[in-house]
Amino acid sequence: MTRPDIRSGALIALEGIDGSGKSTQARRLCSALEERGLPTVFLHEPGNSEYGDRIRQLFERGRSVSPEEEMRLFLEDRRIDVRDNILPALAAGSVVVMDRYYFSSMAYQGALGLDPERIREENEEFAPRPDLTVILDVLPDTGVTRIRARRDVPNSFERVDYLVQVREMFLTFCSDDVVRVDATGDEDAVQREIQEQVEKLLSARGMLPPR
Ligand code: TYD
Repeated sequence: MTRPDIRSGALIALEGIDGSGKSTQARRLCSALEERGLPTVFLHEPGNSEYGDRIRQLFERGRSVSPEEEMRLFLEDRRIDVRDNILPALAAGSVVVMDRYYFSSMAYQGALGLDPERIREENEEFAPRPDLTVILDVLPDTGVTRIRARRDVPNSFERVDYLVQVREMFLTFCSDDVVRVDATGDEDAVQREIQEQVEKLLSARGMLPPR
């Protein structure tokens, strides 16, 4: 199968363990890009498909399916997101900001014993590779403390011992286009670092005039 072509827009994924602040930072990034006049689309995974609904049941009721089945649910949910949302937005020239993408499958289902490189291959058969992936890195204890402060009870994906393994997985993915940002510090400082990375990308692609 040929890889999807994403040259007209730009695809940016924010990743990291639960409680790393991805959702807040992704929203702030979108606002900043919009303020600079760039058409921006914000997406969160798992999405709103029937598979996403099933996944949310697993968060609440416990992980009653095999790692393979869990991985399949995320994959099918993503297939719909790619077809209905991501590819059309990229074709229209938008900057797409993902709050989680397939690196989450590689890390979370990888930490359950599946081979992360196989997960990557299966995803990249249909899902465009991000131009930039930012891994927001916090210690699992910090992540779980933030979740408790936000809504009391961590769900079945949010145990510290599991998140230790998920974080280790995430950090092994760092490369030229997968960068780690320390997300322990204050929200504004983290946002500035993310924006610096994004500006580098968008300027290099001629999508952003210099300030
Ligand atoms: P959710 O609360 O929707 O997102 P967030 O943590 O960003 O607020 O929960 C997403 C959970 O799903 C999170 O624990 C990570 C997990 N997940 C996977 O295990 N595999 C995946 O491919 C994705 C996208 C998420």
